Amino acid sequence: MSSDSPVLVDFDEGIAWVTLNRPEKRNAMNPALNETMVRVLDELEGDDRCQVLVLTGAGDSFSAGMDIKEYFRDVEAAENPTISLIRARRASSQWQWKWLSMWSKPTIAMVNGWCLGGAFIPLVACDLAVAAEEAQFGIADVNWGIPPGGILTKSLSAVMSQRDALYYIMTGENFDGRAAQRMGVVNEAVPREELRTRTRELALKLASKNPYVLRASKVGYRHASQMAWDQAEDYLYAKVEQTQHLDPERSRVNGMKQFLDEKSFRPGLGNLRRP
Ligand code: COA
Repeated sequence: MSSDSPVLVDFDEGIAWVTLNRPEKRNAMNPALNETMVRVLDELEGDDRCQVLVLTGAGDSFSAGMDIKEYFRDVEAAENPTISLIRARRASSQWQWKWLSMWSKPTIAMVNGWCLGGAFIPLVACDLAVAAEEAQFGIADVNWGIPPGGILTKSLSAVMSQRDALYYIMTGENFDGRAAQRMGVVNEAVPREELRTRTRELALKLASKNPYVLRASKVGYRHASQMAWDQAEDYLYAKVEQTQHLDPERSRVNGMKQFLDEKSFRPGLGNLRRP
């Protein structure tokens, strides 16, 4: 991927660092970036160099949200605006929410700076998030004189309380990484100079776990949270059985043997069992 691509991918010990790369536009997400991200997610899913994906932004921004010119104004002014709009929205929602939230490998958002408007969608879609304490978050739509569109508000409701979400949706104020951590928008906020080290540490921890179990756990969590209780219970049992069938490491059987018979494994101490 050339250095002028809207998305950069670097590999490092099982981590794929995926960088939104339009720093001169604060990594605003235009149709070219969205279409590239669809391809990147598709390719990385089958790439063994990627066990964990970290999503971040080039320069001092995570992303300033949807590209106001190329995603909104240019698309609406196109020769056939209806079709242009459908295409632009399809690529955007495909990677930012549909694929990313159910992606088969673990994902971490590393919020290095501005995270505005539509940027919350891929942020929430990532499994975990680490922010710089100094990063600025905001849902600026009300400042534009429009209500938040697409799936932005819905995704906020997955990580913020109603009071917090409505406060920031209705005032258009920004908040920093520390406040994002307090509200549960990110898992952790760390000083900017420690951001990459801490994110890498977390990514390596996820890379050390059984990938079949991680996949079933995260997809199971996302789907079950949308289901009725009885359906969720049945579905999650089915996920356990599916994983036993798919897992070449036979984690469950071997883990029980090591815990009960060999006494060589204490999962409650945070130990990792691998064959
Ligand atoms: N869409 C399109 N272009 C954007 C953009 C966006 N969301 N955010 C920033 N840019 C562009 C600016 O137009 C400018 O382009 P130019 O150099 O061709 O004039 C460039 O990025 C730098 O932006 P600038 O405003 O000069 O940088 P800044 O560091 O002073 O401020 C922001 C950064 C992010 C605070 C400011 O650009 C901003 O408010 N952006 C809009 C954020 C927003 O409302 N997002 C919601 C979209 S859903």
